[in-house]
Amino acid sequence: MTSDEPSVSVELDAVPETALWTLYQRAAEARRPDAVLHDPKAVELVDRIDYPFAERFGTSAGQAQLQALRVGCFDREVADFLAREPRGTVVCLGEGLETQYWRVDNGRAQWLTVDLPESVGLRERLLPPGPRQRYLAADATDLASWADLVDREHGVLITCQGLLMYLQPARVRALLAGCAEHFPGGSLVLDAVPHWFGRLTRKGKAVSHGYHAPPMPWAMDAGDRELLRSASPAIVGVREVRPTGARGPLAGLVPLALNLSPLAARLPSVAVLDFAER
Ligand SMILES: C[S@@+](CC[C@H](N)C(=O)[O-])C[C@H]1O[C@@H](n2cnc3c(N)ncnc32)[C@H](O)[C@@H]1O
Repeated sequence: MTSDEPSVSVELDAVPETALWTLYQRAAEARRPDAVLHDPKAVELVDRIDYPFAERFGTSAGQAQLQALRVGCFDREVADFLAREPRGTVVCLGEGLETQYWRVDNGRAQWLTVDLPESVGLRERLLPPGPRQRYLAADATDLASWADLVDREHGVLITCQGLLMYLQPARVRALLAGCAEHFPGGSLVLDAVPHWFGRLTRKGKAVSHGYHAPPMPWAMDAGDRELLRSASPAIVGVREVRPTGARGPLAGLVPLALNLSPLAARLPSVAVLDFAER
């Protein structure tokens, strides 16, 4: 993508619009010389998209860094998976305008994106897929629409980054169970907002710089992550992923908060589920 490419105007609302929020936060962090996330593709996209990012979402260096740290948890898990399974398949559910492929691809893996039609349409325009990438417009909770497209020969890692909180709890359980049953030996990385935050969104009170986050029907306190096993007997491992490498005051605050158990249990969290081998 070059600077003389035409700008693209974007009209998304409700949940699909949240992909612009996460993109904007990654780009804001990546613009810094001391960024905790290297993401030039996100910067290119924000510069190219004709959308009032700053007016709509405000500007907060802390929020941008926290978002980048969360993204870093997913990147580490994908990079570790690709180190073990260089020809593996990464399935990105609700990928929006994530630029993770450009941050961690190893030149050999397969990538499948599944997102709603309006989000995939925009992704196709802005981030045309390369030969090892495939984009599918579908509801991620409808496994029948995408599971058979996944090449399972070299291992499968599924990411649900910034997705599950927008789904109804019963759909989250069914999605996790379905993934565990369809992809023996695979893993899934997810993030969760805590219950107090989910409640705020449902009351329309999760407001940042005038932007109201959409309602988040599914929430999980970090301290309850072991309960994810109950979605399916095929979920045989649950593991926390902690953010690392924070900058400035967050470099002290993040580890401190994560080590104070009552507080840590009520923070946003990232977890990995491992699925039983058949
Ligand atoms: C907060 S954005 C996250 C985008 C990206 N994963 C990231 O972290 O930047 C939420 C994404 O989930 C997608 N989404 C919401 N419900 C979905 C569903 N039922 N199936 C597939 N995608 C969905 C939205 O279209 C949007 O792209």
